[in-house]
Amino acid sequence: MTTVNPFVEIVSTGRYLPDRIMTNQDLESIVQTTDEWIVERTGIRERRVAPPEMTAAYMGAEAARIALERAGVTADGVDLLIVSTATPDRLLPASACDVQALIGASNAVAFDVIGACTGFIYGLTVAEGYLSTGRGKITLVVATEKMSSIVDWEDRTTCVLFGDGAGAALVRKSEGERGILGTHHQSDGKLAELLYRPAGGAAIPVDQDVLRDRSHFVKMAGRGVFKHAVRAMANSSIEVLERTGWEVDDVDLVFPHQANIRIIEATARYAGLPMEKVFVNVDRYGNMSSATIPVAMDEALEEGRLKPGMNLLLVAFGAGFTWGAMAVRW
Ligand code: UT7
Repeated sequence: MTTVNPFVEIVSTGRYLPDRIMTNQDLESIVQTTDEWIVERTGIRERRVAPPEMTAAYMGAEAARIALERAGVTADGVDLLIVSTATPDRLLPASACDVQALIGASNAVAFDVIGACTGFIYGLTVAEGYLSTGRGKITLVVATEKMSSIVDWEDRTTCVLFGDGAGAALVRKSEGERGILGTHHQSDGKLAELLYRPAGGAAIPVDQDVLRDRSHFVKMAGRGVFKHAVRAMANSSIEVLERTGWEVDDVDLVFPHQANIRIIEATARYAGLPMEKVFVNVDRYGNMSSATIPVAMDEALEEGRLKPGMNLLLVAFGAGFTWGAMAVRW
């Protein structure tokens, strides 16, 4: 195993999940589906749905406040605030600016990272790079997603998969052996149309046709995404282990992006990672895009499953396509 010293570490995490639980049974009365189909094909049993007035920035701010409090850092001590989201409250300005205003991070530079489900890992990497230039000491990486506002509630092939929630991580320069030891990232824009929102941006602004066609909602070619997700997440896991100098046995706990239990199990199988080492909560939250990994880490900490000294593998895949993995010593 490698003895490389990490440059930055995750000091603390936080999460926020809206109270309202939507079960598969609830969905049976919205679209033509069954609890049995959803559980068998995805492993999802329920997800959280934010009320209409609750914004992604609000959820992100709640998660951020917890991470700050646990690290003993005040909001005005944050130098950089990165928000990862596929569901910004507005297209202009960045949601990071909204989170900044909500938590009072008045000294921070704030901007968004759009990496879809891989956004938290991309955000951590931006934090690592920024801190390594010496421009700041403390970064907050917030991943917040109100997926319920962009899924088509008339499309059973997508609306059953997603959920709302937020996670946050406070990152600062590492002073010991804890921290990010290795990363692998990749993207492939040629495959964008397998998972995207065709309209609602500057190319096709919302008009009557868009509203009629419902093309401002998420469209996904599920099988194609599934195949690419497994291959990319497994390869990225293997690649980051190699770069870090870890064997599969050196990994204590895996935090995969939580989209579908079958994707998680197939990824683990291809990468040679035993499922006992894989953290799973997709059954309770569905796919919260980039928020899944920080929410899972925060839960694992609270459950006592994530312990000091553990070697972690984070791995994600999402729209773009984007994917990546990270080796972290906790
Ligand atoms: O973060 C990355 C984001 N996305 C993902 O990771 C999702 C990747 N894809 C998947 O997880 C899976 O492809 C799905 C869960 C979306 C679909 O599972 P599948 O095993 O690939 O099913 P399928 O799309 O091949 O559909 C099988 C059948 C179809 O019916 P026919 O054509 O065989 O008669 C669908 O119309 O299941 C039908 N179906 C449903 N039935 C009941 C699709 N959605 C539903 C539903 N309830 N909600």
